[in-house]
Amino acid sequence: MNNFIFENKTKVYFGRGGVKEYLGCLLKKYGPTVMLACGGGSVKRNGVYDEVMGILNAQGKTVVEFSGIMPNPTYAKVQEGARLARENNVDLILAVGGGSVSDCCKIVSAQALLDEDIWEMEMTKHTFPSRFIPLGVIVTVFGTGSEMNAGAVITHEEKRLKYGVFGAQADFAFLDPDYSLSVPFPQVISGAFDTLSHAMETYFGKPDENNLSDDINEAVMRSVIRNIRVLMRDHDQYEARSELAWASAMAENGVLKIGKITDFQCHQIEHQLGAYTNCNHGRGLAVIHPVLYRHLYQAGAARFARFAQNVWGIAPKDCEEATALAGVEALAAFIREIGLPTTLTELGIPEDTDLRAVADSTNLTAGCCRKLTHEEIYQILLECQ
Ligand code: NZQ
Ligand code: ZN
Repeated sequence: MNNFIFENKTKVYFGRGGVKEYLGCLLKKYGPTVMLACGGGSVKRNGVYDEVMGILNAQGKTVVEFSGIMPNPTYAKVQEGARLARENNVDLILAVGGGSVSDCCKIVSAQALLDEDIWEMEMTKHTFPSRFIPLGVIVTVFGTGSEMNAGAVITHEEKRLKYGVFGAQADFAFLDPDYSLSVPFPQVISGAFDTLSHAMETYFGKPDENNLSDDINEAVMRSVIRNIRVLMRDHDQYEARSELAWASAMAENGVLKIGKITDFQCHQIEHQLGAYTNCNHGRGLAVIHPVLYRHLYQAGAARFARFAQNVWGIAPKDCEEATALAGVEALAAFIREIGLPTTLTELGIPEDTDLRAVADSTNLTAGCCRKLTHEEIYQILLECQ
């Protein structure tokens, strides 16, 4: 095991009814003004907004509303939120939504207290914020695991970049699987696949020797696969929804990453595809993963073979590479089985998308078992068509 320092400061309230039971008391710790942040309206339709607003009112809070945070949140939206937070001296940001709302608020929290532009500060000067408006998250759609880390993925439309930005980590997060019951089923599956992708991108990082993180990771991957299958038969089954909710946090709360350099090459490609097309994150990953892994499995044959055996239950074949490839094909078959897109066309990517520009602007990751070139990423994108 490599050396590591581990801390996760987010206090998690998991399960049914948590908001009603604990939010009021939690709010007493913070000042009078709360920014209530949400997306495009789902929380107003499903009753979550009214429930949270009732608790805020009962606590006598002044509420500043920041709504309309879009999927794949933009940097312009971050700046709008930061202005609002600054003008109103917000004491707490309460992000009610999915990864997009949570991510946007993480950066709003930092930008509101900064005199300089956070994008330039992080990307050019490589310095990072240290002061934040406190943040709490109420998750309404699961998959990203954004609620338990400080990373945010923000689309800078002018620069055509969708990159990771470092911001606030939430003090607390409510994960109530019931809140996700109104999520359209394709998004439920997209989110669950995102979780599987996070686990894979960590598992295929370095080192690829045996370690506890990878053993736990295999259990998370098997659990996600099993529970997606349960939901395919019974869309609203609470047990499966709740297992996937916790798996989503587990895949991105740092536990699986302990002692590892993660891969995340697939995410980097998908994020840039998103920057050019605004595609759905989990569905984009589904298209890219098998194609990318067909390029990589020989370089990481031992690890891909272990994935085949321990995650997909495949018996070893004559040679390691054949077992490794069978694991990749099992993943591809699973993606088809659960109805995710398998090509850029199925994903709805316009034919005239500049795939060369997508490839050329993609970050190359250090954790990938073979460092790719931009040319090879372009080939991968062509094969995804
Ligand atoms: O905007 P509203 O109306 O709320 O609708 C949303 C949105 O259209 C809807 N939704 C959310 N909760 C709902 C609901 N609909 C009905 N009932 C509910 N209870 O779901 C749609 C998708 O929401 P979004 O927040 O965009 O989804 P997700 O949680 O998948 O977040 C995606 C974003 O997170 C980033 C992605 O790149 C993408 O920008 N990621 C963040 C990560 C992180 N910070 O750790 C890691 C991930 O790898 C990912 O990159
Ligand atoms: Zn993801």
